[in-house]
Amino acid sequence: KKDSKILDAGCGHGAFMLQFNGQAANISEIIGIDIWSNKDQGSNSIAATQKIMENSNLADKVKLKTANILDMPFNDNEFDLIVSSLVLHNIKPFEKRKAALVNIARVQKQKGQLVIMDIGYETSKYVRILKELGYQNVNIVNAGYNGWWGTPMVPTFVITATK
Ligand SMILES: C[S@@+](CC[C@H](N)C(=O)[O-])C[C@H]1O[C@@H](n2cnc3c(N)ncnc32)[C@H](O)[C@@H]1O
Repeated sequence: KKDSKILDAGCGHGAFMLQFNGQAANISEIIGIDIWSNKDQGSNSIAATQKIMENSNLADKVKLKTANILDMPFNDNEFDLIVSSLVLHNIKPFEKRKAALVNIARVQKQKGQLVIMDIGYETSKYVRILKELGYQNVNIVNAGYNGWWGTPMVPTFVITATK
């Protein structure tokens, strides 16, 4: 959608943000937040991701911030599109993941779109939580063998929803 404001919650090196490379014209701003944990992603730092973004054609659209999904420094209803890839399973215990989804819903604009990718069967529990938070068209798909984390017992799921 034209002039979209996008949040990548837990952007790491920005793999998901780079998917918007060809769509810069439609984007007003992409904000990538992260706590830059080196346990969750190697060589993780705001400076490293900044460098990657400067080498893409999104350089003038992307703003990186140090922030926790559990306490985001944004207004309510700020983002048209929110993406979060392979992040939520790092937030423990599960109750805190629920709090993360509440925070995501808070900053998501009405009629905005959400894409969550995450590993493990607990990901399917996000579906009910998102519906309780008012999301509609909540859809979950198993990403198949490309999403296996070493074993089919740890698959990756992709959830899409509209607020
Ligand atoms: C496996 S990496 C995925 C990075 C990127 N989204 C991707 O798909 O390539 C997980 C990222 O989540 C971040 N992270 C973990 N817990 C977080 C939290 N509570 N708030 C913000 N970022 C978090 C980590 O620092 C790490 O960069």
